[in-house]
Amino acid sequence: MSHEIQEHHHEHAHDCSCGCQGDQHNPFEELSPVLDQYADIPGSLITIMQKAQELYGFLSVELMRHIAVETHTSIAKVYGVATFYTQFRFEPVGKYLIMLCQGTACHVNGSKQVEEAVIDCLEITEGETTADGLFTLNNVACLGCCSLSPVMMINDDTYGQLTKDKVTHILAELKEAASAEVSGLKMIENEVTV
Ligand code: FES
Repeated sequence: MSHEIQEHHHEHAHDCSCGCQGDQHNPFEELSPVLDQYADIPGSLITIMQKAQELYGFLSVELMRHIAVETHTSIAKVYGVATFYTQFRFEPVGKYLIMLCQGTACHVNGSKQVEEAVIDCLEITEGETTADGLFTLNNVACLGCCSLSPVMMINDDTYGQLTKDKVTHILAELKEAASAEVSGLKMIENEVTV
């Protein structure tokens, strides 16, 4: 990782097509209000990184370097903090982020079988994203709704009292919804180009 960081150390956006003359370009413009608010407040690094992840979905090396520069911190420190906390991601996530609860109540009530069902359906394991970019699987700690255990969240939706069959059904429905969305877009594209 440090090698990768060094490799990019002298890169600038000289070939940017936005007419910004390269070095004035800020690919992380949306983060500026957050940096304005927190950059000079000691102990705000995690808050900034959380907001950055909310905005961009994951922390790229470029994004971590930008945060380091703006907060007058070393890239090593930003990277060290990011890797210490499991909440931070370094790869883009799929359209559907599956957060599979591994808390005690869910564990006791069958989270292992739920995980197996997800793995069987999607052929990915913890932290991976399907090749079509649709699903990412993350194991998480208690989601705070133990009475529904075993539980998973997919994006903002909570699914409880899961069984293998239920998981298979939910994932199949989401796959179907995604492919219907793609065909809908293709139809619109065709109408526009005809
Ligand atoms: S242990 Fe899974 S929601 Fe609490």
